[in-house]
Amino acid sequence: MHEERKITEDLYWIGSSDRRLTKFENCFPIPSGVSYNSYLFLDQKTVLLDTVDQSVSRVFFENLEYLLDGHKLDYVIVNHMEPDHAATLGELVLRYPEVTIVGNAKTFQLIRQYFELNLQGHLLEVKEGDTLCSGHHTFSFVMAAMVHWPEVMVTYEAMDKILFSADAFGTFGALSGNIFADEINFEAEWLDEARRYYANIVGKYGIQVQTLLNKAAGLDIEMLCPLHGPVFRVRKKIEWYIDKYSRWATYRPEDIEAVIFYSSVYGNTENAAGLLAGMMADLKVKHIKMYDVSVTDVSYLVSEAFRASHLIFASTTYNGGIFPAMETLLLDLKAHNLQNRTVAVIENGSWAPTAGKKITEMLTGMKNITVLPESITVKSSLQESQREAMQKLAEAVAKSLDEG
Ligand code: FEO
Repeated sequence: MHEERKITEDLYWIGSSDRRLTKFENCFPIPSGVSYNSYLFLDQKTVLLDTVDQSVSRVFFENLEYLLDGHKLDYVIVNHMEPDHAATLGELVLRYPEVTIVGNAKTFQLIRQYFELNLQGHLLEVKEGDTLCSGHHTFSFVMAAMVHWPEVMVTYEAMDKILFSADAFGTFGALSGNIFADEINFEAEWLDEARRYYANIVGKYGIQVQTLLNKAAGLDIEMLCPLHGPVFRVRKKIEWYIDKYSRWATYRPEDIEAVIFYSSVYGNTENAAGLLAGMMADLKVKHIKMYDVSVTDVSYLVSEAFRASHLIFASTTYNGGIFPAMETLLLDLKAHNLQNRTVAVIENGSWAPTAGKKITEMLTGMKNITVLPESITVKSSLQESQREAMQKLAEAVAKSLDEG
């Protein structure tokens, strides 16, 4: 049964949510699901903006058929060709053979790679600044290469001042009836997932996101329609969210806070991490977070590293190197271009501790990372004689936090 939602007089949300998928991109856990948003304008010409993932295709096509009510589909604008939005494009073309696909040269290259369809005469290629008029509405196209994939573009609708932003401003999380951000408690209940989505999906491409934000600054935006998560229609909330994006894209921390990432085989490195946290708390450091990197999925850890200013890595030595889960985290942080952080290192090794040196090498290979000199080497378990050194490390982190 169709379950479309009305957004404006002639714009509808015709997406759906998946709560069964355990890992987005077969990679990132999504315990609260994910939505796939598609939007339809019923104007003199009918215009669809993106399709949906295969998993929700049934209701998508029911929504589309119901709203078109026998009218033809004139255009589908493909802002992003990744299959979570374009898997149903092939079936769309078969169901609506008169449709014209609107995209850029790279979009069409990817369409040909994913679908063997004869699209001759059905492609409308657009470039930066080109426009398309559907009657009352005029769409202009803004290229956003690598705001996840190379073909990505965003579409601005001038009459209602809507930015269809592709993956940008998207978030993990299924939609539950309320499709607008002002109908849910976005800051308290969704921001962590929005940050985790950003850091893991788009975080690597900060420079490209900054380019898009600069282009968006020249647009008068009253509504943000991303491909995942809620629609933003309150200007203050849009500005707040753009500010978050600006911070993430420039790799500036949101919070001057400390996060301790530790790996521990028999609990001794965990003990060292816990002692440090307690000493920092005694020094009035607030909101300290600790994560066992073997327990918490790395996507949450990457997100926390994007949020906090001070990161402490405490790792066991394993196979003559860094403990595997810790190494995965560090490789992920490097892959996502994390920058501008203050870090400290604790290592453990019963006979040849090497993790600390290797962690420091990995961190210093990243941009603008300050490594505090007060590192600790644990040999099997922390000794009473090392309490003073740990206190010095706690004081160094606390001082650095105070300095912002
Ligand atoms: Fe939601 Fe890059 O696809």
